Order: sequence, then C-alpha cells, then structure tokens
Amino acid sequence: MEKVDPKKVPQITLNNGNTIPCIGMGTFGSDRFTAEEVSNAVGGAIRAGYRLFDCAACYGNEDQIGEVFKAAFDEGVVERKDLVIMTKVWNDMHKRVAESCKKSIADLQCDYIDIFFIHWPFPNYHAPGCDVDSRNPDSKPFSVEEFMDTYRQIEDLVDQGLVKNIGISNMTIPKLEQVKDKFRIQPAACEMELHPCFQQQELFDWLVDHKIQPIGFMPLGSPQRPERDMLPTDIADMQTPEMKEIAANHGVHPAIICLKWAVQRGQIPIPFSIHENEYVSNLMSTITEPLTDEEMQKIATLEKDNRLVKGQVFLWPGADDWHDLWDEDGVIVDCPDAK
Ligand SMILES: NC(=O)c1ccc[n+]([C@@H]2O[C@H](COP(=O)([O-])OP(=O)(O)OC[C@H]3O[C@@H](n4cnc5c(N)ncnc54)[C@H](OP(=O)(O)O)[C@@H]3O)[C@@H](O)[C@H]2O)c1
Repeated sequence: MEKVDPKKVPQITLNNGNTIPCIGMGTFGSDRFTAEEVSNAVGGAIRAGYRLFDCAACYGNEDQIGEVFKAAFDEGVVERKDLVIMTKVWNDMHKRVAESCKKSIADLQCDYIDIFFIHWPFPNYHAPGCDVDSRNPDSKPFSVEEFMDTYRQIEDLVDQGLVKNIGISNMTIPKLEQVKDKFRIQPAACEMELHPCFQQQELFDWLVDHKIQPIGFMPLGSPQRPERDMLPTDIADMQTPEMKEIAANHGVHPAIICLKWAVQRGQIPIPFSIHENEYVSNLMSTITEPLTDEEMQKIATLEKDNRLVKGQVFLWPGADDWHDLWDEDGVIVDCPDAK
C-alpha cells in the first residue's frame, strides 16, 4: 500500500493552540456501505497515514471503528495521542450529552474525544434512513437557550478531560450571532457543507473572523449520498467542465482538485471512500503540486448555491420548507428566544 508520512501532511492550529491535520477521513457509509466496509477502510487509512477521522454516533458504526482503533493501538501502528478523533452528539441526546459522549468514547475505545460536535443545532429527531417527507410532530425550531444548554454540557465534558475541543455543525450566521457571546469555552471548529458549487463564503468568512476552523463535509459533492438527499436540480461538482479541465491539466481525478482547492482555501476536507486507491490519493493530494492562483480563482467562480443536505426531515410543524432551516433572510425562522 502506498503511504504518506503523516509528518508531511500540513497541520492547522486551532484557536486554543491544538493542532490537527489539514485533511481527515469521513466515516458516514451513506446507507450504502456496511459498518465493516467503513471500519476496514479506517484501518487501511491509518496505515496509509491518515490521522484525523470524522465519526458520529448516528453513523451506526462507532463500535466497529473502535475495534479498528484498538487494533492499531495494540499493534503499535499509532498511539492514541497521534490520532485526532472527532464525533458528534445526535439530535435525540441533546439533554443527555455526557451519556452520548461516554458511549462514543467506549465504542471508539479512545479514552477521550478530540473534537466533540453538536451534530445539528436543534434536537429534532428522525429515525435513521427515514423518508424525506416524514415529519416528527415533536420537532421544534432553533432555540438559543436549548442550544446553549446542550453546549454547556460539552463545556463540562471539557472540564472533565473527556473532550479536548468543542465543535458546532450545520450552523448559520444568524444562529452564531445569537450564541457567540454566551460561550465559556470557544468552539474550535464548525462542520459545514463545502464543495466547489457550494462554498458558503459568508459563513466561511464569519468563522475565520471569529477564529473557528471550518471543516468541510461532502468535499467532493458526495456522489454516493443517500437517495433521499438527491434532487434532479443538484449539480455534480466533479463533472463541471471547469473541474474536469483543471483535473486533466494535473493528470488527476477531479476529486483531487476538490481537495486541493479545499485545503488551499483553508477548510479541512473530510472526504469519504472505502476504496484504498481513492483514500490514499485523497491524502496524497495535500502533499503534491498545489493549484495555481488562476485555478483557485476559476473554482471560486463555480459557486451555484448547490446545497445537497437540505435537512427536510428536521422541519417542525408550521415550517414552510427546508429553506427555513438555513435562515436565508438573515433571521432565525420561528426562533422563540432570539434577541
Ligand atoms: N456534520 C454533518 O452533518 C455531516 C453531513 C454529511 C457528511 N458529513 C461527513 O463528511 C464526510 C464526507 O461526506 P460524504 O461521504 O457524504 O461525501 P464526499 O466525501 O464528498 O464523497 C464521497 C464519495 O466520493 C467518492 N470518492 C471519494 N474519493 C474519491 C476519489 N479519489 N476519486 C473518485 N471518487 C472518490 C466515493 O465514491 P465511490 O464510493 O463511488 O468511489 C465516495 O463514496 C462523511 O463521511 C461524514 O463523515 C458530516
């Protein structure tokens, strides 16, 4: 297997001085790949030189991934301190964050979590794999107090040494403006959807200005995402003529161009693949020929507001449609306690 020396992979310093690699591996099997396929790929990825892994309780594979981490520790491939393990509290556990975190630590067999995220900023639960049109009557709009209650539970986990850094995910600027002065411990990172045709420039800039590291999910435009997240109007980022042309000039797959663009722009991409040739070349993209300024500028023009995870299943009774989740008019839709 081809390997990348992890010491050569550029590192990013978070707002509290902790460092993490500029690329990680995603672990969501998109309902298509089994937990074994994903965890085998994690094992291969560790050997290939990956040190950052993006997990989540709701991906349903943390116990299998934990077996792989343990084997890597036992076999001396890596030490715990060499890995950056991220995971997330799912929407149905916002009132029981410590329980969720401790279960992830036990499943992942990792003693502590490097970055612990609030996966979605509201407690709206839907059954795994449910239809996009299904609505949970208990779903509610974003509440500042409820979000902060969940956040404070993670701050307590930092105090206890179970969590090293706090992460937020699927946020918007209006929501961040409401909560930014209420943190005792600043969030270190924000996971958000980022790919060439969905760049979220304003939110990206807001995070950078506030020293919160953007972590880009679906960095390749998630060609294998679940059917429920596909609309006929969605654009396939890697198939745009510009991405194909830049890739041809470099003699690589457009996936590699997506990742080079992401790293050079300053977000941390977390591409997923169970295929060794793909995950190795994804990691390799960070240490090979960079994109030119012209290529970076050309990709900057590809923004098409191509949001792939609309989040329909999190809508509350009375919400119009998925646009309500993303505060597109600059105010938090239906928020009971925004100031
Ligand atoms: N915070 C959140 O709410 C959130 C939401 C979504 C995702 N995420 C995280 O982000 C991660 C990545 O998102 P994603 O898996 O949906 O999308 P992605 O990384 O954009 O796309 C993954 C797909 O791209 C293909 N691929 C990967 N490397 C390739 C390469 N070098 N050449 C050609 N094709 C390649 C693979 O398809 P084939 O299998 O066909 O090869 C793979 O299934 C997830 O695994 C998860 O950890 C977080």
